[in-house]
Amino acid sequence: MIDFEVQPLSQAVWGKGGRSFVEYRDLGAVDATDGQIRFEHDRVVGSAAEMQTGWHCHHLDLQFVYVLRGWLRLKVQGMADMLINEGDALILPGGLPHDETSFSDDYEVLHILVPPKYDTEILGAPDSESRPAKTATLGLSAPPTGGSARWNVLCADVTNKYGLVAKEFRGSAGDDAVLLPQGHQFFFVVGGSAVLGGAKGKSQVSRADAALLPDDGVHSLEQMTHDFRALAIRIFKAARL
Ligand SMILES: [Fe+2]
Repeated sequence: MIDFEVQPLSQAVWGKGGRSFVEYRDLGAVDATDGQIRFEHDRVVGSAAEMQTGWHCHHLDLQFVYVLRGWLRLKVQGMADMLINEGDALILPGGLPHDETSFSDDYEVLHILVPPKYDTEILGAPDSESRPAKTATLGLSAPPTGGSARWNVLCADVTNKYGLVAKEFRGSAGDDAVLLPQGHQFFFVVGGSAVLGGAKGKSQVSRADAALLPDDGVHSLEQMTHDFRALAIRIFKAARL
């Protein structure tokens, strides 16, 4: 069994997908999870005028969004209009109507989709008085701690059949090694660089490098730069709660 597998930004392959104004980078989770989960890095490439989606919903179990760069304005049925910025996260349950109304030109996002293939349904604007059965969970970026390095829970929720916990690491750790939270299978470097270690080796990782981690292994970070930031995400079947 592999210890961990890094998907470096330097070897990224950007492809087409569901939106004409977005380029998609698959981070290799579909095969590693027997087709259950897609882990991808997306960036906008179109002109601002065409960057809007209209009301729609996705028929899936779980959608997680983390803004890497820029901002997104969106409406979610039953919630106040949102502006989500760099470092903010959102868990959207399947079937929840939403409308991504505008994006910054430099918008980049980390995206996790369970399952990888799903249908998108175009909808009309919902009645503003109606409340959906499920709501989105917003995880706002924490201010820099300035103190000892630690993992903050950015957001956590159980929607439909799956649960998700996203932890954000930020802070200056000097040369001290930090253990990654165990059971978190998806790792992504938001900024800076560090050395990711496991039982069988080490790998230098920097901005927008991703790694898939076996969920029973112990992994560490060392030699972190002062601006190092990363996400660790765990996805589990809700029945395991
Ligand atoms: Fe959407």
